[in-house]
Amino acid sequence: MRLILMGPPGSGKGTQAKLLAGREHLTHLSTGDMLREAIRSGSELGLKARDAVEGGKLVSDDLLYDIIEARLRELGSDKCFILDGFPRNLRQAEFLESTLPRMGIGIDAAILLDVPRGSLLKRLSGRRVCSHCGKEYHLEFSPPKVDGICDVCGNKLYQREDDRPEKIEERLKTYDEATLPMVEFYRNRGLLVEIEADGGIEDVLQRILDSLDKVKQGRV
Ligand code: AP5
Repeated sequence: MRLILMGPPGSGKGTQAKLLAGREHLTHLSTGDMLREAIRSGSELGLKARDAVEGGKLVSDDLLYDIIEARLRELGSDKCFILDGFPRNLRQAEFLESTLPRMGIGIDAAILLDVPRGSLLKRLSGRRVCSHCGKEYHLEFSPPKVDGICDVCGNKLYQREDDRPEKIEERLKTYDEATLPMVEFYRNRGLLVEIEADGGIEDVLQRILDSLDKVKQGRV
């Protein structure tokens, strides 16, 4: 399947995309991860994207089009993928809609993770990330065994710059203004799959898998 995963910051896109990629043999393409990696490596893209990413705003569309198109071309027309964090506004959705047919592929479903604001704030403010291997923890829901230290590689955990309270507010505002209008775009194309995503991680995954089964049945 070829999927888009949408939802506000903290709705579990990254968490669910990784699980779905494993279960459904999909390549996970996360623009947030690509941008954070570019910032870490100090590349030209990273330098251009840094202020927007750390400030909770969207980076300019043009910075992402080339990377996304290159990554999709690398995969080729027989590989399946899950896009996490792209598209993120109507222009990006239109870009994808015009680019994919040229590669001979289409989207099967655009999954929207729906989570109440209170839970989003709790999830984001409690997130910690390993500075070395990138494994994610949550102070309350999935804490490390030793405070502040990664269970896997023993390196220090840090808080993402954009997970600070004032940045979280900015990201939610950006989501409402830029990303929410995209939901109608996919609803109008009959691709929208809405998931109530305020439960445990495995429960949410099961709801997504059940919905995808229906999508697959509709396709046969
Ligand atoms: P990105 O990395 O995509 O950030 P985001 O959309 O703000 O999403 P998050 O990674 O914060 O949350 P998530 O929904 O993935 O949830 P997660 O699974 O991590 O983008 C970062 C920035 O890059 C953007 O702000 C922008 O600047 C830029 N950018 C990226 N794409 C762009 C684009 N297309 N155009 C322009 N700019 C772009 O979970 C969050 C926490 O909750 C974790 O601690 C997790 O363990 C926990 N959790 C998850 N699920 C559950 C659950 N069911 N119950 C309890 N806890 C849970």
